[in-house]
Amino acid sequence: MLVIGAAGKTGRAVTRALVARGVGVRAAIHQGRRSRIHADDLVHAVPLDLATGVGVEAAVAGVSGVYHMAPNVHPDEVLMATRLADSALRQGVSRFVYHSVLHPDDASMPHHLRKAQAEKAIRARLKSATVLRPTAYLQNLDGPAQHGRIEVPYSLDTPFTNVDLDDVADVAARVLTEEGHAGATYDLVGAERLSVREMAEVATEVLGHPVDAVAVPLDEWISGPGQDLSDHARDDLVAMFRCYDREGLVGDSRTLRDLLGRQPRSWRDVLS
Ligand SMILES: NC(=O)c1ccc[n+]([C@@H]2O[C@H](COP(=O)([O-])OP(=O)(O)OC[C@H]3O[C@@H](n4cnc5c(N)ncnc54)[C@H](OP(=O)(O)O)[C@@H]3O)[C@@H](O)[C@H]2O)c1
Repeated sequence: MLVIGAAGKTGRAVTRALVARGVGVRAAIHQGRRSRIHADDLVHAVPLDLATGVGVEAAVAGVSGVYHMAPNVHPDEVLMATRLADSALRQGVSRFVYHSVLHPDDASMPHHLRKAQAEKAIRARLKSATVLRPTAYLQNLDGPAQHGRIEVPYSLDTPFTNVDLDDVADVAARVLTEEGHAGATYDLVGAERLSVREMAEVATEVLGHPVDAVAVPLDEWISGPGQDLSDHARDDLVAMFRCYDREGLVGDSRTLRDLLGRQPRSWRDVLS
């Protein structure tokens, strides 16, 4: 199986889940970050740049399936999806899974809309493609919780149903290796509805040390952590934080529970 972005957070988890099933992985890396991929005899790195197309044909050649995800908030996400789907079509690779996002049609977040367009571009080429729509990962807040301070540039009180990344990776491995998912679209959402304030309270209890929840003004984020980003990436993230501030990000966990055959892992599970 070809896994795009294999040196990233999601790609590593998907690679691990495939290896756990005994599946060989062609791990696509960008900028040669081999040391970050999941190390195993079943994993072999290939260089690939989706922005230029260099390495795409060779990476797709001979695989039985492709797991595609775009780099975070990349302006060329639709072109990247098109490039990869065209290559899969040319080379007769019909099992193609695209890692989208929950509520891709939410017009208040431009990077979600690009994922909606990418879904359409892929399906126009590969009708049998499977689309996974995960919400934000619980793991995004795990590290900060372990360090005693969850700092976010949005409200502490809007609701989220964040999902465990390993549950997402488990589903990714299933749909890549099992029959019955051609043409399907699945929302991947956790079962708990928690605000950041509530997540900090649970973390305080589970970890046995105080975990503070802190809302930083958006302007402070823009001139702090956001200042080194490209204007484009910063604008996308500001739009996302405004949406999180207004309404959070909430979905329905039933699809994930059905796919896993068990309850999705909780915030407590991830922390402990
Ligand atoms: N984080 C979340 O909560 C969440 C939730 C739902 C969906 N998603 C989506 O999941 C996807 C992956 O997110 P992530 O958090 O795993 O990101 P990440 O850790 O930043 O990983 C992204 C990967 O993309 C690779 N990459 C960058 N530029 C590339 C290029 N030009 N060609 C090919 N590969 C390139 C990077 O490779 P190198 O390291 O080799 O440069 C990196 O390994 C994104 O599309 C994001 O929107 C994320």
